[in-house]
Amino acid sequence: MREIRFDRFGGPEVLTLHTDAPSPQPGPDEVLVRVAYVGLNPLDYKLRDGSSGKAKELELPAGTGREMAGTVMLAGSGLDDAELGSRGLSPGTRVFGMRAPGDLRGVAAEVIAIGADELAPIPDEVPDEDLPRWAGLALAGLTAIASVHDTAQIQPGQTVLVHGGSGGVGQLLIPMVLEAGAERVWATGRAANAERIRELGATPIAYDAEDWEAQIRQETGGRGVDVVLDTHYHSTFEPSLDHLAEGGLAVALPTLADLTPAHEKGVEARVPQIKTGRDRLDRLVQGIRAGNYPLEVSQVLPLSEIAEAHRLLEDGHTRGKLVLDTSA
Ligand SMILES: NC(=O)c1ccc[n+]([C@@H]2O[C@H](COP(=O)([O-])OP(=O)(O)OC[C@H]3O[C@@H](n4cnc5c(N)ncnc54)[C@H](OP(=O)(O)O)[C@@H]3O)[C@@H](O)[C@H]2O)c1
Repeated sequence: MREIRFDRFGGPEVLTLHTDAPSPQPGPDEVLVRVAYVGLNPLDYKLRDGSSGKAKELELPAGTGREMAGTVMLAGSGLDDAELGSRGLSPGTRVFGMRAPGDLRGVAAEVIAIGADELAPIPDEVPDEDLPRWAGLALAGLTAIASVHDTAQIQPGQTVLVHGGSGGVGQLLIPMVLEAGAERVWATGRAANAERIRELGATPIAYDAEDWEAQIRQETGGRGVDVVLDTHYHSTFEPSLDHLAEGGLAVALPTLADLTPAHEKGVEARVPQIKTGRDRLDRLVQGIRAGNYPLEVSQVLPLSEIAEAHRLLEDGHTRGKLVLDTSA
């Protein structure tokens, strides 16, 4: 089968398409999935270049990719037909999901073995043309749940600033924050993405065309916001600390974010920890079915062009999600 692997840490060129990879065997609580599309995430290139904190746990050569959509083929020895059926994961079912945080095997392959609890069925009414969106849903969606609910615990009436509102996670943070009852949400992004941010329900702040700090100061009457959800972090985290209301919270998404500047100022700051599992995936399905999470896929590239996809991702200006088609 076809599979992407890399045998050393480095640039996108270390990603190699193998056409003769052996099909994996499912463990007792795993299912075998024929992968249709793979969603890409910044974690993919941080694992590939070795800069992720998790990279030291990787055994090379390694696979790549964390989330996908595909079709259940068969189950491991611990899952009989009745068990699979009760989970809605019978062979032939279309599913989406992501690897558990401790499972560093890739998903950019024609066939993968993956824990049954890391998958959820895609509703029957979803047309196949929509599968790329489902491939890019699990990691961004579960990150948004971890950020909005577990970490920030957004309450009705709060005001929120999202940095990077049109990115993969940003496009789910905005609707989830609004769903939780936030009174007002601002989101930064380039001017080119302002309309998309507005469609998602936030007030756009074009950081490349105006002074976002002056704008947030003016629009909050100098009070600042209750919560900052910062997907960008690099140039936004420290200045954001000056735009938090008394007792406010700064949430930085990059796992290795240094929170010291916040702590030195006496500001509460946290990094969300993603949790996987069926209950959380089902929550995303409900949100999609209700029409609340209109996640956008900006580009679908062939699996064979994964290096180019990583280059695009590393630019840091992905709109919505980048997805790979394993059949091409
Ligand atoms: N803690 C966790 O468990 C967890 C889980 C998932 C992701 N993450 C991390 O979260 C971060 C975001 O992930 P993602 O998938 O959303 O990335 P992404 O899709 O690449 O989005 C990046 C976003 O940043 C915006 N951006 C770039 N420069 C900016 C600036 N100066 N000010 C404001 N926004 C700016 C871009 O918008 P423009 O194009 O408009 O500039 C883009 O929307 C990554 O670091 C990722 O590793 C953490």
